[in-house]
Amino acid sequence: MSLKNTLFNLLGRANPRFLKLVEKSLKSMPGVGDKVEGEYDEIMSKLEGSLKPYKGKFEAFTKLPETGRPRAEVLADMEAMREAEEAHWKDGYISGAVYHGDQEHIDFLNKVYALNSQSNPLHSDVWPSINKFEAEIVAMTADMLGGAGQDVCGTVSSGGTESIMLAMKTYRDWALEKKGITKPEMVVPVTAHAAFDKASQYFNIKMIHIPVDENFRADVNAARKAVNPNTVVIVGSAPSFPHGAIDPIEELSELARQHGIGFHTDACLGGFVLPWAEKLGYPVPKFDFRLPGVTSMSADTHKYGYAAKGTSVVLYRGQELRHFQYYTSTEWPGGLYFSPTFAGSRPGALSAACWAAMTSIGADGYMSATRKILETASTIKKGVNEIPELHVLGDPLFVVSFASEIVNIYKVLDYMSHKKWSLNGLHKPTCIHLCVTLRHTQPGVAERFLADLREAVEHVKAHPEEKGSMAPVYGMAATLPLRGMVSDLLKKYLDVIFKT
Ligand SMILES: Cc1ncc(COP(=O)(O)O)c(C=O)c1O
Repeated sequence: MSLKNTLFNLLGRANPRFLKLVEKSLKSMPGVGDKVEGEYDEIMSKLEGSLKPYKGKFEAFTKLPETGRPRAEVLADMEAMREAEEAHWKDGYISGAVYHGDQEHIDFLNKVYALNSQSNPLHSDVWPSINKFEAEIVAMTADMLGGAGQDVCGTVSSGGTESIMLAMKTYRDWALEKKGITKPEMVVPVTAHAAFDKASQYFNIKMIHIPVDENFRADVNAARKAVNPNTVVIVGSAPSFPHGAIDPIEELSELARQHGIGFHTDACLGGFVLPWAEKLGYPVPKFDFRLPGVTSMSADTHKYGYAAKGTSVVLYRGQELRHFQYYTSTEWPGGLYFSPTFAGSRPGALSAACWAAMTSIGADGYMSATRKILETASTIKKGVNEIPELHVLGDPLFVVSFASEIVNIYKVLDYMSHKKWSLNGLHKPTCIHLCVTLRHTQPGVAERFLADLREAVEHVKAHPEEKGSMAPVYGMAATLPLRGMVSDLLKKYLDVIFKT
C-alpha cells in the first residue's frame, strides 16, 4: 500500500475533531497552504470554461446599463442562450433535472405563468385564485399519498429542500413545546438527501446518521439503537436520491410511533411515481400515510409532478403539527404578519402552473408517464448489468446507480460527459447514476445511453493512463478524509458561479 493510501486509511478512521486540527495545522505549514490554494485555483480555472461559456459572447453587466436595453435585444440574447442549452436536456442527455419537457406541456405551463405572473400568495385577499390552487395542490397530493379519509394537510413550498427543512423545523418546535426537548436529535439514514444535514445545521438539530444495508436501505436495528429521549424525528426515503432505494418505511415509522415521535417519509423523488408504480403492479412497499406512524411527507411537484421548477408539497398528519411550521408575528410595526413557509412574498404563478400541470395531466396521465419511465428504466438496468465490467447497485425502480470493480467509474463518467451525458457522480460507495425521466423514454435514448456507456467502459479499459478532467476531483472528494478541504473546494465552485 502506498504511503498516501496508508495516510488516508489512518485519517479516514480518525476522530473528526482531530482531523480538523490536522487540517488546520497542515494548511498553516509553510508552503502547504499555498500549494493547496494553487491546486484549488487550477481545478477552478478548468471548471470556469464550462460554467462561463458566454464570456465574451454576450455583453456582461457589472452595473446597471445607463439606459435600458431594448426588450427585443434582451430577448434575442436569451433566445440564443436557450438555443445553445436546450438540445442537451431535451434530447435526454441529463440525469433527472427536467422530468417532462415536451414542448406542448412547456407552452401550456408558460401560458399559465403569463396569466398569473403578478400574483403573490402573501396577499391572499388580492389573489384568492392562488389560495384555491395551493389548497387543491395539497389536497390532491395528500389523496394520492394515502391521505384519503384521514386528517392530512400541508403547504406548498419552493422545492424539496424547503419541504424537508420545514418539516424538520416543525418537529424541533413541536418537541420543544410538547415534550420539553431542548437538545433535539434526528435519526437519518446516510443516504437521505443532503437537505436533512442542511436542516440539522440551520436549526441546530443534532444529526444522528444510521447506516444502510447491502441493498442501500436504512438499517432498522441501527435506527432502534439510535433513538433516545432527545430524538424528535426518524427519516426514511422513498426512494433515496443516490441509489433509488426505498427504505423500510413500515418498520421505521412503527419504531417512531412506538416512541411517540415524528416520522418523515421523503418522497420528494418518488411521491408522484410510486403510487402509480404500485397500481401498475410493481413491487412498492408501503411508504405513505396508509402507515399510521408516518406523520409527515415531502413530495416534489416540480419533479415527477411535472410542474415548472419551484414547487413542492410538505404534508402533515393533523393540523396541530402544521401549526408548528407556520410563522406569525403580532408585534411588528408593519402590522400583523404571517406566512406558511420560509419565504414572505412568493411566486403565485408557479403554484398556478403546478395546479395546471396536475389537473391537466390527471391520474391517467401520471399512470402512463410512470409506465413509460419504469419500462425505460428497466431496459437501462438490464443493459447496464449486461456490461460485464459494471453492476447496478440494489434493485431500483427508476434511479439506476452503477459501479465497477474493474474500471475507474469516474473516468467512465468523464468519457460519458464528452459524449454529452450529464450523469451524477456519487461516492460512498463510488458509483454514478442516471435518474430516468420522460426525456429518456423518447425513442432511441435508452439504446444510445447503453451504446455510449459500453464505448466508455471499453475506452477506459484500453486507456488506464488517462487522467480525465473531473475524475481526479471526484476521486479526491471520495478519498480525502480532510473534509474541510473538500468543502473549501465546493465553496470556491460557488464563487465561480457568481463571477461576472
Ligand atoms: C430524495 C430527494 N429528496 C430531496 C431532494 C431535494 O429536492 P430539491 O432539489 O427540489 O430541493 C431531492 C432532489 O433530488 C431528492 O432526490
